[in-house]
Order: sequence, then structure tokens, then C-alpha cells
Amino acid sequence: MTAASATRISVTPADLTITPRDRRFGRDEATPRWWHGNDPVASALYNALSATFPLGEAFFVESVRKYRDGAEPRLAGEIAAFTTQEVIHSREHLAFNRRAGDSGYDLAPLEAKVAERLALLRSKPPIASLAATMCLEHFTAILAHELLADPRHLAGADPATAELWRWHAAEEIEHKGVAYDTWLNATKAWPRGKRWRVKAKVMMLVTRNFIVDRTAGAIELLRQDGMFGARAWANLLWYQWVRPGMFRAIFSAWAKFFAPRFHPWNVDDRALIADYGANDATFRKVRSAA
Ligand SMILES: [Fe+2]
Ligand SMILES: [Fe+2]
Repeated sequence: MTAASATRISVTPADLTITPRDRRFGRDEATPRWWHGNDPVASALYNALSATFPLGEAFFVESVRKYRDGAEPRLAGEIAAFTTQEVIHSREHLAFNRRAGDSGYDLAPLEAKVAERLALLRSKPPIASLAATMCLEHFTAILAHELLADPRHLAGADPATAELWRWHAAEEIEHKGVAYDTWLNATKAWPRGKRWRVKAKVMMLVTRNFIVDRTAGAIELLRQDGMFGARAWANLLWYQWVRPGMFRAIFSAWAKFFAPRFHPWNVDDRALIADYGANDATFRKVRSAA
């Protein structure tokens, strides 16, 4: 058995197209400080997530593009489309983060934590950055799935801002296989056991850091809102884990990552994107992939 046939071949749907939609959100009016249902806790969690995107998604692009040369033409094309989508996501979340700043939040401590994590990854061989990106892209894709599948997550949110999150979620679902396929290609000569051990270890690490850092980030923003101590923690943990409970809701999708024949497209959730597009006349494909 050759190395190529011993490895899992991608199950990315043959008819998948990744199409960047160059959209802008919330430029015309101020975003309310508590844009998410006038709720400081919900706003803090999403703001803490958004604070990571400009630096984080630039890192994803950098990590995947290092392996573009070894990719066959279809994957190379998907990497180009993924890059375009992530660059536009970074731009829109940078604009959103500025609006959070305009409404009085200081995101600098959260951004500093992201920069610290990424500097550590960049100090390691490039395959470590690709592995972390592949894991975080799965994490992002299952968050995106949950966000679109359960309307309670964005219930009551400022419409323009909710639209930003839905647009981002849709494109994360669409390109969810790209970092994974790049990883499969980059490690195709690895023994299967080594590949699993590395990806499992990296997933455990990035999951721990994701939960700890986003929680700490949201707690910092609540502190800036004057909410401290047990009350802030209880409200945030309830929101994260119980109702609507985003972190709890993604657990089974997260666990599937460790299955031997895992691939992000084992779950074909493009219907979520189709539903979204059908309900929103402005959700148009306005720019073709680079
Ligand atoms: Fe993104
Ligand atoms: Fe992504």
C-alpha cells in the first residue's frame, strides 16, 4: 500500500464552490455598546471572539499559503478562495472592533493575548502552524454551524451586526475543508498513527486555549462594564454553557474530530448556507475567487 493510498483522501464535495462575498457591515451607523440584545454578557462573548479575528485569520492565511505550492490545482484554487474570504473577514471584524472601541471598550488586552499565542506558534516549524490552523478552522466551522442552525444565538442582536456574524459563519462553513485538505496533503507521507497523535494533541491544546482565552477576554470586557467577581462569572458561564450554551452545543461535533476517518465534510451542512441565502436578498456572490 502506498503512502497516498494509506491516507484518507479528501471527501470535500466535488461540486463545492468557495465564493468570497465582498460585503461591508455596520459602516453607516454606530453599533450599540451592548449590541447583542442589550445584554453585556452576550455582547462580551461575541466581542471577545471578534477581537481574535483580524490577527487570527491573517495567521490562518499565512499558515495555509505556505503549503500551496505542494497542492494539486483544485486545492490550490480553494486555498486562493479561502485566502480571499479570510482577508475580507479580517477587514470586517477590524471595522467591527473599531466600533466596539468607539463605544468604549478597550480590546487591546485581548489582542495582546492572541499575539502572544501566535508568536509562540510562529517560533515552531510551519507544520505546527498548519496543524493549529486546521484545528481552529474545525472549531470555527462547528461554531458557525451552531450559530446558523439555532436562531437563539443571535436573537435580539443589532440587525447589521447579526448579519456580519451570519455572513462570516456561512463562509466558514463553505471553506471548512480547506485547511484540513491542506493538512492531509502536507502530511501524506506520515504514518497514520503519527498524524492522529499530532492532530489530537494540537486539538486538545487549541481547545483549552480557546476556551480559557475567550472566557478571560469576555470577563475583561465585563470588568470594563463594571461587572466583577462571582456575578460576572456566573452569568458568563451560564451563557456559554447553558443558555443558549454555544460551547455545550458544539461538544459532539468537536468530539468527532478524533474519530479515525474524520473529515470536516463528513457533515455536509451546505443547506444552512442555502437557507440563509434564500432568506436574505443581499446575500449575493459578488466577487469571484482570486
Ligand atoms: Fe473567517
Ligand atoms: Fe476560516
